[in-house]
Amino acid sequence: METQKKRVFSGIQPTGTFTLGNYIGAVRNWPLLQDEYDCIYCVVDQHAITVKQTPAELRKKTYESAAMLLATGIDPKKSMMFVQSHVPQHTQLSWVLSCNAQYGELGRMTQFKDKSAKHADNINTGLFTYPVLMAADILLYNADLVPVGADQKQHVELARNIAQRFNNTYSETFVLPEPFIPKIGARVMSLQEPKKKMSKSDTNEKSFIVLTDTPDVIVKKIKSAVTDSEGVVKYDVENKAGISNLMGIYSVMTGKDFEEIEKEFEGQGYGVFKTAVAESIIDTIKPIQDEYARLLNDKAYIEDVLREGAQKAQYQANKILSKVYRKVGFAQF
Ligand code: TYM
Repeated sequence: METQKKRVFSGIQPTGTFTLGNYIGAVRNWPLLQDEYDCIYCVVDQHAITVKQTPAELRKKTYESAAMLLATGIDPKKSMMFVQSHVPQHTQLSWVLSCNAQYGELGRMTQFKDKSAKHADNINTGLFTYPVLMAADILLYNADLVPVGADQKQHVELARNIAQRFNNTYSETFVLPEPFIPKIGARVMSLQEPKKKMSKSDTNEKSFIVLTDTPDVIVKKIKSAVTDSEGVVKYDVENKAGISNLMGIYSVMTGKDFEEIEKEFEGQGYGVFKTAVAESIIDTIKPIQDEYARLLNDKAYIEDVLREGAQKAQYQANKILSKVYRKVGFAQF
């Protein structure tokens, strides 16, 4: 008898071009899981509006994000891919889950604390209930695994807690999801402040690389990455955060482990190492950039993929949503 494949769900906000952090921490793994798992990937535009967006820009970025996901290797024949606002069941389930999530546990979310400090003029309730919508994204498809970077681990654990609480109250309904976090690159750091996460919202553009950066720009950004004065390529996160971050990036780009990398650059300065890191990034993302450019010219194809993805997702989502509605006691005819 054929065993059913485990299910994977993940999402990304269309708030800018994907950074190398998004790629290494999450997106790179998405196509790699397509054969072994039943994968669902989502452009989460509803999460994006928890901070102020320019409407025309958000629309454009949503489309570009979908193109970039396809360019990184997501195959719509194997995976389901859609835009969150095209599947209203996410917000419908989110309401029910919010009545099963506690104010206190949401207040403990570090992303909420960080974002409310950063956007002190706009601490809207969406920013606070953000993880409940994320729980709905995951639980609506009974996902087993959620491939994300380390910064999203707390949110996946919250989704798991909400699912467990719901199951205990209303009987077995949701699968308890687990985060799937890469061993290397779960937290790619800023190139300028290597104790801080690489983020597309950073005001210093030199602190992050985006997947559309040209080779020249990548070389410049890596050359200006903050390191230390020791001149030894050695993995030591505590004392050599900058070099360790570049080693992590290089390791993922080339498949070499830290020991191999230390040997490769033994007795050589940071200049040689940085050139190699920049080249490894350029080589890896070149085919993605070519495919992205091609796809951007084929809007009809992207729309078809998203339309079909939304239809399939709605079909799946309705199954769980009607079960949930029945369990909580909503009258159904
Ligand atoms: P978002 O859009 O901020 O980031 C998308 C993915 O990129 C990872 N990431 C990083 N990984 C390593 N190093 C970094 N510097 C780095 N920066 C970002 C994030 O961990 C994430 O996996 N809440 C989510 C989106 C979301 C979601 C979901 C994810 C909504 N619903 C359901 C999984 C399942 C977010 O804001 O990701």
